[in-house]
Amino acid sequence: MNSKVDNQINELLQKMSIREKIGQLNMTVTPKTEAEFERTREKLRNGDVGSMILASSSTAGLDPQERVNTAMCNRVQKVAMEEGPHGIPLIYGRDVIHGHRTVYPVPLAIAAAFNDELVKKAYRYTAIEATSVGIHWTFAPMIDLCRDPRYGRIIEGPGEDPMVGRHMARAIVEGFQNGDVAQEDSMVTCPKHFIGYGASEGGRDYYRTEISDYSLYNYYLPAFREAIEAGSDTVMSSFNDINGDPVSGSRYYMTEILRDYLGFKGFVVSDWGAIAFLKRLGVTESESECAELGIHAGIEIDMCDDIYVRYLEKLIEEGKVSMETLDNAVRRVLEVKFKKNLFENPYCKMPEIDRTEHLKCARELASECMVLLKNEDNVLPLSKDKKIALLGPLVHEKRALLGSWCLEGKAEETPSFYEAMVEAVGKNHLITATDPTGLYDDSVRAMYQADVVVLALGESEKVTGEKRSLADISLPNYQIELIRKAKYSGKKVIGVFFCGRPIAMEGVADLLDAVLYAWHSGSEAAGAACDILFGETVPSGKTAITFPRNSGHIPMYYNATSNRYNGYFGNNSETSYEDSIAAPYYPFGYGLSYTEFAYSNMQSDCAEISVDDLKNGKKVKCSIDVSNVGEYEGKETIQLYIHDVAGTYMRPFRELKDYKKLLFKVGETKNITFELGYDELGYYMPDGAYVVEEGNIEVFIGPNCFAKDKIVLKVV
Ligand code: GLC
Repeated sequence: MNSKVDNQINELLQKMSIREKIGQLNMTVTPKTEAEFERTREKLRNGDVGSMILASSSTAGLDPQERVNTAMCNRVQKVAMEEGPHGIPLIYGRDVIHGHRTVYPVPLAIAAAFNDELVKKAYRYTAIEATSVGIHWTFAPMIDLCRDPRYGRIIEGPGEDPMVGRHMARAIVEGFQNGDVAQEDSMVTCPKHFIGYGASEGGRDYYRTEISDYSLYNYYLPAFREAIEAGSDTVMSSFNDINGDPVSGSRYYMTEILRDYLGFKGFVVSDWGAIAFLKRLGVTESESECAELGIHAGIEIDMCDDIYVRYLEKLIEEGKVSMETLDNAVRRVLEVKFKKNLFENPYCKMPEIDRTEHLKCARELASECMVLLKNEDNVLPLSKDKKIALLGPLVHEKRALLGSWCLEGKAEETPSFYEAMVEAVGKNHLITATDPTGLYDDSVRAMYQADVVVLALGESEKVTGEKRSLADISLPNYQIELIRKAKYSGKKVIGVFFCGRPIAMEGVADLLDAVLYAWHSGSEAAGAACDILFGETVPSGKTAITFPRNSGHIPMYYNATSNRYNGYFGNNSETSYEDSIAAPYYPFGYGLSYTEFAYSNMQSDCAEISVDDLKNGKKVKCSIDVSNVGEYEGKETIQLYIHDVAGTYMRPFRELKDYKKLLFKVGETKNITFELGYDELGYYMPDGAYVVEEGNIEVFIGPNCFAKDKIVLKVV
């Protein structure tokens, strides 16, 4: 922070009473009615509030949220600035997770694009929309690594891989911040939920986790380190405990790991009510002790449970919390407010936004996220002169396509798959059934009259997101029954899946000739799916999450530190189940195109390198030729994995270390080069020390985690 701001903060701290300081650590909701406005005015006059969340409930991702009332935000801000004790502006936060009015795919789908520049552009546009209504601060990116598709919030994060998590964290933070959060159309970011929330046992929300420090450093922390290095100024603490230590009350996680180890300098906001939650977790018997635990853990802002404003002043009088602790917390909050230029620019000017480019980006990103999982006999792309029986429960669906956590997106503005298909081929090419589930009326006749059957399948957004976990990720039986009927029709059957999470494909994909995983891909989901079905765009998505055969296989992830006998990589002779082969239905990084890519001629510029040379910045170049040997121009995501054959600690059988997504013309060959250095070839010890060890490291390059082309690098 520059000295001028430091001086301004010091002057404020000298003038502020204890109560006014605590007020800066208190977040409330914004008033909606005049009565609420008057009550808020009273709190602001006393300096009892420092920030507000623009949401009408603690489960903003699930409930229809009112649009942001910018006029009210400006009215309240005016009270804070002109009637508050020190003219300190409020900072307004909201869950801007995957879009604002223009909704992009859910983040788990965005991860499948493997296209950092496009992701960054989407979040740039999102910041422009969100700031235009007065939102300063987003509670995003959600970068909880997760391996359990039963968990509803898996849709909100980057999936099972730490490297994908790092890329997503950086692209999203840079998109929101645009290099300078002081700009009116930039947003303060808040990577969440620190730390380990995605490991919630059994995929149950708000539940316990067991995470060793070894796993913490190698799987869960990398994305947060990246977000902090990308410039995030705030972090949100999580509801969960790790090994019995509730994170939002833990100095180990919120200070020793987050600040001392990762070097985070901003402020921490608790999750909604997470400080009061400490009592329910059973580490305190009083709310006052919750306040003491939270402030000592290193949580600056208490979200919406009034614990700090009710108990901190007495704790300070009793000497249980020091003035230094309080002043440091307030300083961190004020530093971010100055950095966001809120003292100079506290009001929203409500600029008009042209969303044309935003919607184009939404369509492009949706197209690049969608994953072609199966395409038997190249049944896709379809020609537009076919008679199509268009059936399934999501044919006319609008809201689900937006996914969970879209607070501003409106279903009525979202084209359904039916509407997009009509636009693509015209009504006279479509045969539909009166009952969208397609089971009990003229659906069979529709199939017989058609050349091909397209089924719109999937799940509602209501079974994804916060508090929306599933014990069974199977497709509902009525949808499987519809697929069977279609299969028996003897026509080619294409399944288009509008889902948030991976669903169990065993017994489903087997019955289909093609599977297009369209996810919950936002405002332009339907159009993007049609673009792919008819070949306007060639699919290029690669799944960033494993598709287990069925729920019994969960957790199943490609980068387990187990040896090959977990069956993931096909060594099913040693499989761990008698009733199911253990290999995934679709592996991490998998996705088909309409064209074919051939990999050949893998090389490295050296077969041996010393740890010292690596430490001194020397890198190994690994290259491979990739050719488009098919009939379509298309994009391929070339992925590089390593396998540290023998570490002091067990290492994953494959670890993604880099990827490049490139466009190939028909017949084109490109020589692709990756560089492997110190940062790519090591791992973290349980004490957080990063090491590169001597020994053989296998390097693979290919189209997914089953990559076959390999060289062996000897580290000496
Ligand atoms: C919710 C979520 C969190 C969100 C916050 C504010 O409980 O856990 O992700 O940012 O509350 O809506």
